[in-house]
Amino acid sequence: MKKNYFDNIDSTQVLAKSMAKQGIKNEIFIAKEQNAGIGRNGHSWFSNIGGLYFSYITNVFNNIYTLTLAVAINQILREKYQIETKIKWPNDILLNNKKIAGIICEQVNNLIVVGIGINTNFESLNLEELSDIATTILSETGINIDNEKLLDEIMQRVDELNDEKEILKMFRENMAFLGEKRYVSQIKQEAIILGINDNGYLIVNSNDKKNIIVGGTI
Ligand code: BTN
Repeated sequence: MKKNYFDNIDSTQVLAKSMAKQGIKNEIFIAKEQNAGIGRNGHSWFSNIGGLYFSYITNVFNNIYTLTLAVAINQILREKYQIETKIKWPNDILLNNKKIAGIICEQVNNLIVVGIGINTNFESLNLEELSDIATTILSETGINIDNEKLLDEIMQRVDELNDEKEILKMFRENMAFLGEKRYVSQIKQEAIILGINDNGYLIVNSNDKKNIIVGGTI
């Protein structure tokens, strides 16, 4: 993939989507800092200098692609950096129950634009009012990460993860809040988190019934 670097940009995701509209693919857009980073569900993404922010355009994806991305990031942080992250369905990466990375996948024509933000090398103090729900790798572990190396490791792992059964298994083994009661946005009530089915949908127990959840957050 061709890499494009920016010191400062509004959003690599917005840029990559406009490139995808022109049919450009297999390119990565990497920023040191974003002024208007975007997250899922209309949220903004705090993009302080020190973090890793990138978007790429691909035509190689499948139904469980977002799960694959979460598994890849989780595996790399655990294996290469001994950081004990967990995956919050559908695709947030948590450390000590707070978010340290987010993934967004958006379709543009026949292409997928993937955006990944990882809170690596800045202090969580900078997250201000987000500090109850989000943190950074530096604040939690004291580890300084080589963002460029981490990016390459993640991209390579995404390429290598091809076995759907194995990806689902890894997701299940690393899932946060299993057996715990959480507020499930799609059904607007608390439910016990049981796991995911083979489509990657969430299985919960609410009102003593099994419920399949296809979207939203927990
Ligand atoms: C989320 O958890 O809501 C997804 C966050 C995605 C953030 C990344 S940072 C790089 C790319 N550019 C953006 O504006 N957003 C994504």
